[in-house]
This record gives sequence, C-alpha cells and structure tokens, in this order.
Amino acid sequence: MYLNLPQAPLQILDLPWLANAKIELAILRLDLIDPLISGNKWFKLRHHLQQAHQSGAPGLISLGGNHSNHLHALAAAGKRFGFATAGLLRGHPQDTPTVRDLQAMGMELHWLGYGGYRARHDPGFWEPWQARYRGWHCIPEGGGGVAGAEGCALIVEQARSQLSALGWSGYDAWWLAAGTGTTAAGLVLAEAGEHAVHAALAVPMDHGVPATVAGLAGSQGYQLHDACRGGFGKFDDDLLAFVAESERHSGVPLEALYTGKALLALRDQAEAGLLAPGTRLIFLHTGGLQGRRGYL
Ligand SMILES: Cc1ncc(COP(=O)(O)O)c(C=O)c1O
Repeated sequence: MYLNLPQAPLQILDLPWLANAKIELAILRLDLIDPLISGNKWFKLRHHLQQAHQSGAPGLISLGGNHSNHLHALAAAGKRFGFATAGLLRGHPQDTPTVRDLQAMGMELHWLGYGGYRARHDPGFWEPWQARYRGWHCIPEGGGGVAGAEGCALIVEQARSQLSALGWSGYDAWWLAAGTGTTAAGLVLAEAGEHAVHAALAVPMDHGVPATVAGLAGSQGYQLHDACRGGFGKFDDDLLAFVAESERHSGVPLEALYTGKALLALRDQAEAGLLAPGTRLIFLHTGGLQGRRGYL
C-alpha cells in the first residue's frame, strides 16, 4: 500500500513575545501535509493502516467525540485507501460539521451514550464490535497505542532534515499539545533523551496522559504541562484572543483546543522567564483545523 508520508514544512514563527524573551521558535506545519488526513493523524494512523492492510482487514474501527479530528482523519484515510470505516461516538446523536463529514465519507456511526463511552477501557469492550465487524482492525481512542507512537517518531526526522535550511545547527526542545499523549511519546522515543519534549496537556492531568506517556516512552526525556484551562474542550476569551492575535501576526492558522492552548502555555513560560534567552524550540503544529467549526 502506498503510504509515503508527505513532508511538513518547518518555518520560523515570528511573534512579539518570542522576540521579547529572545527565544527562537520553528513550527513544523503538520497541518499542511494533506487537506484531509492532516496533522499528527497521518503519523498516528500510518502503522495502523499498514497493519490493517497486512492482515487483510476489510475495515477500520475507532472511537471519538462529535468533533473528533481523529475520526475525521480515519474516515478520510479509509476512503482514500479503500477500507470501510466505523466510528463509535461519545454521547447521543448530534449533528455537527464533523459528524456530517464522517457520514459523507462513508463512516458507519454508532452512538454509545456517555456511560457506554466511559466503558471503552474495560477488558471486554471491543468484543461485541469485533463480533459485529469480523476481521476489522480496531484502533484505540485517538489513534493511540504503540503503533500510533511509532508512527509519530517519524516526525522528528522531518524536522531535523530541514534545520540547516533555517540556518539552525540544532535545537533545544520540542513543544506540542497532548490529548492522549501518544504523539508526545513518539517524539520522546525518537529523541531518546537528546532533546526534551514538552507536552502541553489539553486534558486535565488526571485523564491518564502521564500513565500513557510513561507506558509508551518511559519516565525520562519529557515534561508535562497543564494547559487545559479548566477542562478538555473548554475555551475562554483570553485563549480565543491569543489565537486570533497569533494568527494575525504570523499568518499560521491554529485551532484553540490543542495548538492554541499549547502555544499559550509556552507563552506563559516565556513571560515568566522560565526559558533562557537564545533557546531554540520546535513547536509541532498538530493540525486539527477541521475541529474549529465546532466552536467558532
Ligand atoms: C489537533 C490535535 N492536536 C493534538 C492532539 C493530541 O494528540 P495525542 O492524542 O497524540 O496526544 C490531538 C488529538 O488527538 C489533536 O486533534
């Protein structure tokens, strides 16, 4: 199966608070790699798609919410690479732009309610779905697991191969948003301690990210920051104003709930003087721009 990863451009991000703190920031634009399978999703799905292909699975099944970037990318990938797809959704049937796209891309949807969705980590959760969709490849929530993290390790190569074009001989650390922590774990694995990975959590700290990252990548080489601003999916005026101002100044589109929160957490660190002048960082744009329709 043809699954070559498109190259994401690495660009300098120019913002006044970075200049004030004398920090240089390059942004790896995973949002630009594909109009539909965008952001970290390509990387998280890559190994799952290959496994599904190798096992002759007729379809792919996974879980998410009604604005899920992950399900959106999965539905698009299924359509493009010839797999049927099914999505197990949190809550009760709702009509959102994302849900309409999922249906238009041919994904079969099942609404699990809230209690049903909470049971997703229970040992027998997948059994009825595996009985219903025989031979289909099941993907954990958010494209997680070892396959997802291994796919994300390739992100580091993409950034490193473009450093010299920016005139950079190296960098000090990564910053990125975390939801399940899979992408961050992939970077930690690829870096193997060479550069620190700062994961800004878009979900509360007690939602399992520390355990996920530790399970996939061990206990070293990264720092987790609380960036959720009151909860997953929550946004406030300061956040939206920060995103709008950053977009206006840099020309780079962001979505508030992941990349916006992560960049704001980084700005807070910079303004608190926690980053040494001369620090060079790579910020990962994890895409998710389709999800903006849900809150704008
Ligand atoms: C736009 C965006 N950024 C970041 C993440 C977080 O990725 P991860 O679940 O690998 O931590 C997600 C969710 O999957 C996302 O949709």
